[in-house]
Amino acid sequence: MHNKGFIFDLDGVIVDTAKYHYLAWKHLADELGIPFTKEQNEQFKGVSRKRCLEILLEWGNMKVPQAQFDAWLAEKNEDYLGYIDKMTEDEVLTDVPKVLNFLKEHKIPMGLGSASKNARPILKKVGLIPYFNTIVDGTQVSKAKPDPEVFLIAARDLKLLPEQCIVFEDAIAGIEAANIAGMTSVGIGDKDVLSDARYVFKDFTEIDLDFIKELAEL
Ligand code: BG6
Ligand code: MG
Repeated sequence: MHNKGFIFDLDGVIVDTAKYHYLAWKHLADELGIPFTKEQNEQFKGVSRKRCLEILLEWGNMKVPQAQFDAWLAEKNEDYLGYIDKMTEDEVLTDVPKVLNFLKEHKIPMGLGSASKNARPILKKVGLIPYFNTIVDGTQVSKAKPDPEVFLIAARDLKLLPEQCIVFEDAIAGIEAANIAGMTSVGIGDKDVLSDARYVFKDFTEIDLDFIKELAEL
């Protein structure tokens, strides 16, 4: 039996879908006449689709009836899915397969913990479904990161205690969620932004398999 398990966020950790989210939000924002920059898109990382639209409308000082809100939410997602549909295995971020394959070879339990309701179709597109013992996504959680719910469900599915789990995250809210859960947090991104993470790497090319071995207690 293994003592440790690994839980991965999807967007920004395994694949760079932030650029597609940006294009789809930008399209809607342009339509509504609300300025929307790449910097603003940063604030949407790890945040649920519904909350993103609420924020966008707050920026535009707009209040709309529920039916209109739902229609825009659906429009953004359809647009986003247009990009997802064209994704291939090539879009898995560099050296992510190196780590996933290593963990798989050593039969270390692996889970996905994502706020996205599109997590399964994306994993399918890039061919990574078989790596995960559990996939917990935005369709299963009621409380968004930094609430630790998504990671706690994944840990429970992997039959591990929180302290046995290592979480890879690119969002501040995700690092916070992992820390609140009592898991080991590994930030993927900027050290200054993810300063609360136990470890931070720019991306997976910086991650050595010896480090993974150590984390996994192999
Ligand atoms: C998160 C992304 O993983 O999923 C957010 O970082 C996104 O930017 C959220 O808004 C919800 O995604 P989706 O696919 O359900 O719209
Ligand atoms: Mg993310």
